[in-house]
Amino acid sequence: MNKIIMGGQWGDEGKGKIVDLISKNVNVVARYQGGANAGHTVYSNGKKLVLHQVPSGILQDNCICVLGNGMVIDPVELCLEIKELEELNFSTANIYISPNAHIVTPLHKAIDVKNEDSAKNKIGTTGKGIGPTYVDKYNRKGIRAIDLLDGDKLKNQLEKRLGVALEKNEVSKNLNHDDEAFTVFYNSCEYISKFIKNIFPIMHDQNSKILVEGAQGALLDIDHGTYPYVTSSNPTIGGISSGLGIPTTKFSEIIGIFKAYVTRVGNGPFPTELFDNIGETIQDIGKEFGATTGRPRRCGWFDSVAANYSIKLNGMNQIVLTKLDILSEFDTIKVCTAYKNNESESNDYSEFMNNLDKVKPIYREFEGWNCDISSINSYNDLPKNAKEYIEYIQNILDTKIAIISVGPKRNQVIEL
Ligand code: IMP
Repeated sequence: MNKIIMGGQWGDEGKGKIVDLISKNVNVVARYQGGANAGHTVYSNGKKLVLHQVPSGILQDNCICVLGNGMVIDPVELCLEIKELEELNFSTANIYISPNAHIVTPLHKAIDVKNEDSAKNKIGTTGKGIGPTYVDKYNRKGIRAIDLLDGDKLKNQLEKRLGVALEKNEVSKNLNHDDEAFTVFYNSCEYISKFIKNIFPIMHDQNSKILVEGAQGALLDIDHGTYPYVTSSNPTIGGISSGLGIPTTKFSEIIGIFKAYVTRVGNGPFPTELFDNIGETIQDIGKEFGATTGRPRRCGWFDSVAANYSIKLNGMNQIVLTKLDILSEFDTIKVCTAYKNNESESNDYSEFMNNLDKVKPIYREFEGWNCDISSINSYNDLPKNAKEYIEYIQNILDTKIAIISVGPKRNQVIEL
């Protein structure tokens, strides 16, 4: 039975831990979009590890880790990540990079940074070169993983592209092909080239039990998210068939990961955002700082309007609710049940999609449970008020909650 795990909010829902947990029962974990903009935090023997491009299945012995064609791969960061894993004695022999995946170069990162610096309405990108690399892909001018196999051709290709970028003022005039950044890039390309292997047979092997790992979240989707404050790929389900070459009919479990509250990093509308000390407290206890950039994450109450949209969009049939323990601190906890704009009120997110900065959330309030739940492993042992909160969310989303996470460690989960 193949499974999908994807973020239902604006990313950072805690997917890494859940992929690590679920990948015990699969032999392939595959990423289909995004790149080093992601930061999936996992713990191995008590040590915190942040994976950016390697799928979180790498912690399981013999698991095949696929970096799909829909990804944009940064060789420099990937090289560092693989070396760190090797130092920790994880086997990296089973990493497969699709030959068709596109490559982020120092040039793309420089374009990303310049775009942001000069923009009036800043997106707040991670600066990892994601957007510019996808631009080159769709402009049919991209560099693909397969191009790394011929070093001279690669250098020519990139030197030419840099020339165009300088001519068009896409980057600062100081960027030079002889810069150290390019040397590091070419060395990293050489290092990762041994991982470039055809992924089709794995994705279509009868014996493969596949777990697909989404990065970012549904609301950051380039087509279905809060455009233009989105990432440049499709974290939603459509990205899987194009980004891995596998039809979604092959998946029976579509697991949406939702934080028990909401966070967002970068700019863009966020209806349930809290600007008071409750928001600050969530940020503080939830350690809500970006795993990739260290930026503080904006925090707010759980938004069932947005969650229902994500569930429908992706056909999610199970939910994992993460970081419930962070809410233990509060006397009152709120859930947004509808939006209001002028006189119109609705719980249909799509109606407000292009007006999200104007909507007012309508809340239902719950009494908090005010006690530590981080070592509870059984649903029955949860305090009554926590159960009430969970059951309400399950009902309003009309989708089964399969796992509740109550702390960062692998064993801090309640399976239902
Ligand atoms: P980009 O993906 O770097 O182009 O950034 C576009 C938007 O997506 C920005 O608001 C980023 O903060 C956000 N973003 C990108 N990757 C992640 C992620 O893994 N978690 C949360 N937000 C992300």
